[in-house]
Amino acid sequence: MQEGPPRTPPPRTPILLRHLMDLVAAGVSAGHLRADTRVCAYMKSPLPPLVNGIQGDFPRDIMLEVSNLLVFYENALALNDFSMKVDAGSIVAVIGSNSAGKTTLMNTISGLIIDTQIKEQRKGGERITIYGRIIFEGEDITYLYPSERAKKGMALCRERHPIFPESDLLENLRIAGYLRTKPEIAETIDYFFHLFPPMARLKNRKAGFLSGGEQQMLAIGMALMVKPKLLLLDEPLLGLSPLMQTTLLDAVRLIIRETGLTLVMTEQFARPILPIIDRGYIIENGMLTMEGPGLELMDNPEVKAAYFGV
Ligand SMILES: Nc1ncnc2c1ncn2[C@@H]1O[C@H](COP(=O)(O)OP(=O)(O)OP(=O)(O)O)[C@@H](O)[C@H]1O
Ligand SMILES: [Mg+2]
Repeated sequence: MQEGPPRTPPPRTPILLRHLMDLVAAGVSAGHLRADTRVCAYMKSPLPPLVNGIQGDFPRDIMLEVSNLLVFYENALALNDFSMKVDAGSIVAVIGSNSAGKTTLMNTISGLIIDTQIKEQRKGGERITIYGRIIFEGEDITYLYPSERAKKGMALCRERHPIFPESDLLENLRIAGYLRTKPEIAETIDYFFHLFPPMARLKNRKAGFLSGGEQQMLAIGMALMVKPKLLLLDEPLLGLSPLMQTTLLDAVRLIIRETGLTLVMTEQFARPILPIIDRGYIIENGMLTMEGPGLELMDNPEVKAAYFGV
């Protein structure tokens, strides 16, 4: 029997997208979506391990609620009535272009802005005004100092990977974990090398001599040293190559699956992160302009035009 012409395999992305959309339409939870075999295969990563017998699914209580946040620097309005909700165990992204207010939001959630506000008041200089409310695990933390928020389980990994350039990689991790016991520090350092295996051979290198991508991995590792419940990442993909972006996002997904922590990240470019987030908030000039599940935003023509670079 004569064989017909070779068949071209159908393109992968549309099929996966249809599959994902079917799952979303069927009301499958974000945790189960991430654990779906085909989604995992597409993302080229192994299935998540069982956590307390549950695969990739975590309680959906609200961990963080930001309500009607307004932040002024002197007379400039950096955040304008911004609100968002973050479910425990979810990945949420705040997407916006330069000056949209992303760093201001992260600094306000983590409390760093309170430090800045106090310093500026002491100098008699620029005044920062904050209105609105931030609720973390049911408690109003709007006026708490950053150190108190850190004790409650928040860690911020600031923009442009702040590290100690003169100290080596291991010293940086240990410094970040200074409040924890030696066994806890050792355990988290092991976990860091499990997340980023190539970093193990760089453990004695001065952090200042690491590449931008390596410094960003280290900065995430430093934030993990405090074993946070809520990890805040301000533009973790900034200046990274597409390959490094993938490495970092794979690690981020692994962290969420394996530890169950909650993640809020900011980004300028939506394309690499929309497929992995549960919910996205689009911010422009400090204002919320759109919000929804990552897969819905991915299909939105306005989001594509503004943030996909097409
Ligand atoms: N300390 C400050 N004093 C005065 N204005 C500020 C200060 N920090 C930020 N701003 C202003 O607030 C607005 C929001 O800035 P922010 O740094 O939060 O934006 P961003 O989204 O993080 O931008 P980028 O993508 O460039 O990091 C900008 O117009 C910025 O100029
Ligand atoms: Mg910023």
